[in-house]
Amino acid sequence: MSYALAFTATDPAERWAEAADAAVALVAGEPDAIANMANVAALIWQAIPDLNWAGFYRFDGTELVLGPFQGKAACIRIALDKGVCGAAARLRASQRVDDVLAFPGHIACDTASRSELVVPVVADDRLIGVLDLDSPLPSRFTPDDQAGAEALVARIAAALAGQT
Ligand code: SME
Repeated sequence: MSYALAFTATDPAERWAEAADAAVALVAGEPDAIANMANVAALIWQAIPDLNWAGFYRFDGTELVLGPFQGKAACIRIALDKGVCGAAARLRASQRVDDVLAFPGHIACDTASRSELVVPVVADDRLIGVLDLDSPLPSRFTPDDQAGAEALVARIAAALAGQT
């Protein structure tokens, strides 16, 4: 496994596919969920343009707890009835928010954030946490980004749960 990753696709959907292939290779055979989340956060940060935060919150059975990420220091605990992340976890459905300032209950960890994409991580019907992507650009995330992020997460959900 080379750690010198290169992403060349200019089409966003193809870029996500490249990132997903790289993520699958990165987590292969590694059973430590934290290590895998750390590498995947770094990989997404490198592969996907115009992000100011990329990382994971882990579900501890009660609430979301900050996990591995890239970006500025962030809020540590998020209840499931709070914020974009809480909504994604509670509903087990991706949240794609064009304007975070208009999202009721949005938690502003980095005031530069303008749009957000949160994808739940579910393995064996168990909520593991969420993948949270923030951008300083309004409406940064398209349906292609959502589909790409969901496909990436689906391919490595077991590894993010420490089940590999
Ligand atoms: N904005 C998120 C909180 C997490 S930070 O963006 C890293 C939310 O509303 O859930």
